[in-house]
Amino acid sequence: MSIREAGLEDIEIVMAIERACFNRERYSREILEGMLAEDYFTVLLAEEGEVLGSAAICHGKEGTQIISLGVLPRYRGRGIASALMDEIEERALARGNRRLVLQVSVINVAAMNLYLRRGFVLQGILKDYYGRRRDAYLMDKILERV
Ligand SMILES: CC(C)(COP(=O)(O)OP(=O)(O)OC[C@H]1O[C@@H](n2cnc3c(N)ncnc32)[C@H](O)[C@@H]1OP(=O)(O)O)[C@@H](O)C(=O)NCCC(=O)NCCS
Repeated sequence: MSIREAGLEDIEIVMAIERACFNRERYSREILEGMLAEDYFTVLLAEEGEVLGSAAICHGKEGTQIISLGVLPRYRGRGIASALMDEIEERALARGNRRLVLQVSVINVAAMNLYLRRGFVLQGILKDYYGRRRDAYLMDKILERV
């Protein structure tokens, strides 16, 4: 498997992964195109012959925020999200950011496990973050420089 940075030409692929992985909280074409075009966003694609999953991050002053992470259902449980997270951590450090931050739905057990296993720490609850009665956990991780 390899991981590469996506460009505007990958918009259809990125949208297909969003559709397959997210329901109401998925991003529109317009927003995804913005992410693919702007330098302070990085969109990553994991591939092996075909695309398996993607991640999007935003490099800000307060740290790097993980704004999307999804693996196509048939490829889950094979370490693909973990590989994307490794790459995200490297890219955050390369930008001079030691803090990673994310929001995750309180009912998303798979993602919570992934983040807790990787050393993310719960920082609070964001009430109604995804809509009425759909709360999120705010989590962060301070990266070790290698
Ligand atoms: C969450 C998601 C990205 C995980 O992708 P993945 O490639 O299957 O994850 P990995 O194989 O790298 O698993 C890494 C760890 O995550 C946790 N995990 C993954 N799937 C899990 C599941 N179904 N149940 C419980 N824990 C799970 C485990 O701790 C796992 O480590 P282990 O296999 O050693 O136990 C994937 O399920 C997905 O795309 N879900 C829909 C989109 C989504 O919810 N994204 C996160 C938004 S915050």
